[in-house]
Amino acid sequence: MGRMGPASGCIRKRGAGQRRDLRMPGEEIEMRIGEPLIDNWGRRHTRLRISVTDRCNSRCVYCMPERGVVFRPRGDLLTFEEIERFVRVVAGLGVRRVRLTGGEPLVREGIDRLVASLARVPGIEDLGLTTNGLLLARWAEALERAGLQRVNISLDALDEASYCRISRREGLQQVLDGIFAAQRHGFEPIRLNAVAIRGLTEDQAIPLAAFARRHDVELRFIEFMPLDGQGGWQSYRVLRGEEIRAQLEAHFGRLIPAPRPDPSQPAVDYRFADGRGRIGFIDPFTHPSCGWCNRLRLTAEGQVRNCLFAAGEWDVRAILRGGGSDQDVASLVRACVACKKPAAGIASPTFLPPEQAMYQIGG
Ligand code: 5AD
Ligand code: SF4
Repeated sequence: MGRMGPASGCIRKRGAGQRRDLRMPGEEIEMRIGEPLIDNWGRRHTRLRISVTDRCNSRCVYCMPERGVVFRPRGDLLTFEEIERFVRVVAGLGVRRVRLTGGEPLVREGIDRLVASLARVPGIEDLGLTTNGLLLARWAEALERAGLQRVNISLDALDEASYCRISRREGLQQVLDGIFAAQRHGFEPIRLNAVAIRGLTEDQAIPLAAFARRHDVELRFIEFMPLDGQGGWQSYRVLRGEEIRAQLEAHFGRLIPAPRPDPSQPAVDYRFADGRGRIGFIDPFTHPSCGWCNRLRLTAEGQVRNCLFAAGEWDVRAILRGGGSDQDVASLVRACVACKKPAAGIASPTFLPPEQAMYQIGG
């Protein structure tokens, strides 16, 4: 994967194969600092996902290879101070919501210190974290104290055998304890993420929905994306959102589309007809929501990405460690946003998945 610096413009490494340079002249970039991050398709970028580590205490089949995972040396990862500086700059460009991811964010030592520092950044209105839940019971109190507002917890199965088959680790009860701890500590909303894979998770949809209803947490099914570490993704393995909806309707009765106050949210939500519970579907394969995407990503090693599936990255670590100014950081982010494609096109026959897996990019 080639790294792109602020001056390298938009390089498409694959696919159409052309090189497009969308750089703005230096003066114009200077003037634009402080203005919102609007891409060439009018999407205003207000959300940032930050991966704080590529390490993980689980090995989910849809994310990591079973063996031979080589993690980045710790010195390659951005320090908390570097992350905070980046967030201060992008908050000045209109970013308002930040979500911490991994790998597994709770294996990064002192994660509550990072949460506390980001919670204080002017302009950041919403701070969330996506976790596999294994360490959440241990961390919930410290995270709440640090100012974390929301948590998303991966939960793909509700029986230990299925859980182990999917995550290649034991620990279902630990995850459930994490969910209940998050509830006790008042995180709102708490969302469960369930990846849907044909041949693996069909029998989990109803138990998961029943669990979410019983415990009053939101549940979102996510179509399997081509980001697994061992190249095992095949389109026929995508268990489509509409199939799960049909299964749930047959069991629980009609699902009623819920209002969508924020069109940039990736999930389409439904309510159960009896009024108990809310369920969402993130269908990047059958119903991509790229047209509304307002997200930027920062990988653990300090690369800025404009899409999960982007072929290019912008190296902000080099600026942060090389004595660059905040203006330099802002210019790099603008260059990255300027190169964002209108859609990822993962269902297209010509689609080429990125070289990195989900744990290396940040979910
Ligand atoms: N497809 C869909 N969702 C995935 N996740 C991880 N890998 C994949 C994939 N290949 C989801 C997990 C986790 C979040 C970070 O991303 O559910 O909750
Ligand atoms: Fe770890 Fe999350 Fe990837 Fe599972 S999906 S292996 S929990 S980073």
